[in-house]
Amino acid sequence: MKLLVTGGAGYIGSVVAAQLLEEGHEVTVLDDLSTGHADAVPPGAAFVQASITEAGGVLSEGFDAVLHFAAKSLVGESVEKPGLYWSHNLGGTLALLDAMRQAGVNRIVFSSTAATYGEPERTPILETDPTRPTNPYGASKLAVDTALTAFAGLYGLGAVSLRYFNVAGAYGEFRERHTVETHLIPNILKVALGERESVSVFGTDYPTPDGTCIRDYVHVADLARAHLLALDACTPGEHRIYNLGSGTGFSVKEVVDVCREVTGHPIPITVAPRRSGDPAVLVASSEKIQRELGWKPAHAMLRDMVADAWTASTKPA
Ligand code: UFG
Repeated sequence: MKLLVTGGAGYIGSVVAAQLLEEGHEVTVLDDLSTGHADAVPPGAAFVQASITEAGGVLSEGFDAVLHFAAKSLVGESVEKPGLYWSHNLGGTLALLDAMRQAGVNRIVFSSTAATYGEPERTPILETDPTRPTNPYGASKLAVDTALTAFAGLYGLGAVSLRYFNVAGAYGEFRERHTVETHLIPNILKVALGERESVSVFGTDYPTPDGTCIRDYVHVADLARAHLLALDACTPGEHRIYNLGSGTGFSVKEVVDVCREVTGHPIPITVAPRRSGDPAVLVASSEKIQRELGWKPAHAMLRDMVADAWTASTKPA
């Protein structure tokens, strides 16, 4: 298939683009490089440096589907700059959907998030559970999911939203590499690499066994594989939503312990106040995608995710 991957110079988009190429698809990456890296675009993909609001020109060349990753994706930043999140994530995606309709491209796989659920009433979270985001990031992604449902009904769009929980690990040389790093595992590994003295633990007074937030980590290679299944499952007139996690939660302190084991570094921690917008516990049920699309995580152990991230981060970028 001829596929447009928006945000294909970012962490997850580049891994999906690489897997699509391995499967023999023709891939064009569209990325404005505001947070992505040109050298993350896999060899073999065409590259267009542009914003999603300018996707019309590229799409008019004729594509079978779009895999849409380009977005602002930091919970903390979204609380500080909500307008940025609404304009990029909702405004940008609506412009992309409009351009797709004009170009007659009617299939999309959308990068949604566990942040759409907010503070869950129960865990593991099911796709049918209430969506009450606790930050503008989750709210903007939820708004896109709502638009996709409407567009599927109105215009016959075939859409699949994948609600990621916490993505970790690396795929060969493709790894997480943000200019301003806010994510837990890369920040911990920076300590082991000697780039930071300690890692801050944001909040130790949450209602969890050790007082730190619990998250569900999924390996980026497994997550990427789900996009290929989702692409095949895009059915005109339908919008499907699937969670993607491993079903097991790890607290911030437990993640630090696993990183200590993998790296052999003591990794000192500093207790810091809670980060606003963070729910206490986010753990997914991924039973639906396993049942309906046959997705099966091959690297469900947090240790393996950390080990792959560690190996990739000790190589030059
Ligand atoms: N944390 C720290 N110290 C750090 C970084 C993070 O204690 O230096 C804590 C956070 O407060 C949070 C946990 O580690 O409790 C995980 O934080 P991340 O920033 O790694 O990830 P988030 O859970 O905030 O967000 C990620 C993605 C979102 C997605 C969400 C869903 O970035 O896109 O997972 O679970 F919505």
